[in-house]
Amino acid sequence: MSDLARIAQQHDAEDPLAGRRALFVLDDGVYLDGNSLGALPRSVPGRVEDVVRRQWGALKIRSWDESGWWTAPERIGDRIAPLVGAAAGQIVVGDSTSVNVLKALVGAVRLVDDARDEIVVDATTFPTDGYIAESAARLTGRTLRPVRPAEVPAALSERTAAVLLNHVDYRTGRLHDLPSLTAAVHAAGAIAVWDLCHSAGALPVGLDEHGVDLAVGCTYKYLNGGPGSPAYLYVRSGLQDRFDSPLPGWNSHAEPFGMREAYEPAAGALRGRVGTPDILSMLALEAALEVWDGVSIDAVRTKSLALTDFFLECVRAYVPEGRVESLTPVRHEERGSQVALRCSPDAGDVMKRLIGRGVVGDFRRPDVLRFGFTPLYVGFADAERAARVLAEELR
Ligand SMILES: Cc1ncc(COP(=O)(O)O)c(C=O)c1O
Repeated sequence: MSDLARIAQQHDAEDPLAGRRALFVLDDGVYLDGNSLGALPRSVPGRVEDVVRRQWGALKIRSWDESGWWTAPERIGDRIAPLVGAAAGQIVVGDSTSVNVLKALVGAVRLVDDARDEIVVDATTFPTDGYIAESAARLTGRTLRPVRPAEVPAALSERTAAVLLNHVDYRTGRLHDLPSLTAAVHAAGAIAVWDLCHSAGALPVGLDEHGVDLAVGCTYKYLNGGPGSPAYLYVRSGLQDRFDSPLPGWNSHAEPFGMREAYEPAAGALRGRVGTPDILSMLALEAALEVWDGVSIDAVRTKSLALTDFFLECVRAYVPEGRVESLTPVRHEERGSQVALRCSPDAGDVMKRLIGRGVVGDFRRPDVLRFGFTPLYVGFADAERAARVLAEELR
């Protein structure tokens, strides 16, 4: 056994989160793709079976009330809230991240005066945010200005209406400075909208503490909600009364069963709802969130950084010099929970071979190998094995 393999064993033996692994369905491979689709928590299949057979099959329509279906978007939002540093009553679950980006961004622009004629968007964003921002700009008659996150403070002015940023870059794993960027956006009198897809469940976000205005995120990555599980929308409590959703469906009406002709928005976070919630996915997510009971997000962050540090150390030790280049920042303050390695010209083939050997990461065009570290179920021996297999494939 190598020195690094021995060190890995010791870290795993001392890991306070090691016991959480048993809460997931895992095989004997190494799963480093939880930044794309989180692993299945053991509690989910039984819950889904109960929702389908008893709540739907037996109780039928009664379940909207008796099984708490109608209030699930707010209830599950409150379950996610502590994981992203939000007090209760500010998050609703539902729709996709893309749809929530539209609600948040158009809602943000409607909070400021018409003289603010620019929307700033992260120029390195995951594509969907860019596409939706472009449409939000057309819908609101604003100009879209793509800016790299580091250049956002210099780009802000009295013309800025809203700024849409990704907390962690999906390609490189770079963590952007949410507190200082939010403060800069506010100093310019604009509204800050954050996409938390790659940070929620991986590191502390501090939405309330840092005064974020609106935020969105998915639940199928580090929150393990399952394929296509519903996303969420955060609207800071101080803005909820003025939040004017571009998708004011009947679920966000003050009196949804009043069947009124005129729209009157509900109070609070549920103003962000649209139509009938996707109950099967939503309640699978609710069961999945039980893995967080008693877990502190700070402990998750500590382990995440230790795992990515250790993986990078193993890559340096094992992989032939010059074969890969890390795109992931070395500084902890700038790192999310994934390691991205540039591997030219054969990253796609290399990832196929890794997956064939039980080490599952993913490939992002043109030449990036991504390895996501989900501290609730990935250990140090996994990190060592992944680097060892990678080195064998690259030799
Ligand atoms: C930063 C970011 N935003 C949005 C999405 C996807 O949004 P949706 O849930 O609408 O598919 C992803 C998916 O990986 C993402 O990484």
